[in-house]
Amino acid sequence: MIRICPSILNANHQDLPGEMAIVSTDADLIHLDIMDNIFVPNMTFSLTQAKEIIGSSPLPVDTHLMVINPDEVAVEYAKAGSKSVSFHLEASSKPEITIKCIKDSGARAGVALKPDSDFSEVAEFMNYLDMLLIMTVEPGFGGQSFMESMMPKVEQARKYIGEHALKDIWLQVDGGISLETIARAAQAGADTFVAGSAIYKSPDPAAVCRELRAIASR
Ligand code: DX5
Ligand code: ZN
Repeated sequence: MIRICPSILNANHQDLPGEMAIVSTDADLIHLDIMDNIFVPNMTFSLTQAKEIIGSSPLPVDTHLMVINPDEVAVEYAKAGSKSVSFHLEASSKPEITIKCIKDSGARAGVALKPDSDFSEVAEFMNYLDMLLIMTVEPGFGGQSFMESMMPKVEQARKYIGEHALKDIWLQVDGGISLETIARAAQAGADTFVAGSAIYKSPDPAAVCRELRAIASR
C-alpha cells in the first residue's frame, strides 16, 4: 500500500484550509513539519497553530517533529489528534519511552533519521515502531534535491522489516520526492512518501498526488 503525504511547509500559509482541501481526495495524510529553529535552522508552527491545523485537516495528520526536546513535546502532538507523530532519534534521550507515550496517546509512533544517521542506530527500536522516516534531504527546508545516496539505507530498512516480519511498519521518505525521484525511492522499498514542492508548486496539486501514487505503485 502506497501513502502520499503532501507537506504544507511551503504551501500558502494564508490559506491552509484551501491548500489541504485541494489534495483531500488524492492524498492519504497531511504532513505537518514542526521546526524549532534549534534542531534545524528554521521555524514553523507553534503547538497552538498545529492544534488548529490538526483539528481542521480533512485528512489524518502526519506530524514530523524537528525539535530538540521531542521527549517532552511529542505527546502533545499525539494528544492533539495527529494520526502519526515522528521525532528525530538524534534529538531524543529516551526514544523507547517517547514511542510508548505517543502510542498511549492514540497516535502511530515514528522515528526519523537525518542523512548522517545510520539504520543500525534505530534497529533496536524497530519492534516498537509504527513508522521509520528516512530523510532524503537535510531537514529544515523544502525544495532541496533528493539524496539518492540515502537509497541503500531505505533498502536496508526494507530488508530488516521483511526479515523480522514487521508488516505494520510504514517506511517513509521525506525530501526532494517528485515525479522524477519517487520511482527510485519506491524501488528501494519506501511505501510512504512526503512531497512538498512537487505538489504545492504545481498548478494542479491533486493531479501530482495521483501521478506520484501511480508511479510509486508500478
Ligand atoms: C524538510 C521537511 C519536508 C519538506 C519536504 O525538512 O521535513 O517535509 O517539506 O519538502 P520537499 O518535498 O520540497 O523537499
Ligand atoms: Zn517533513
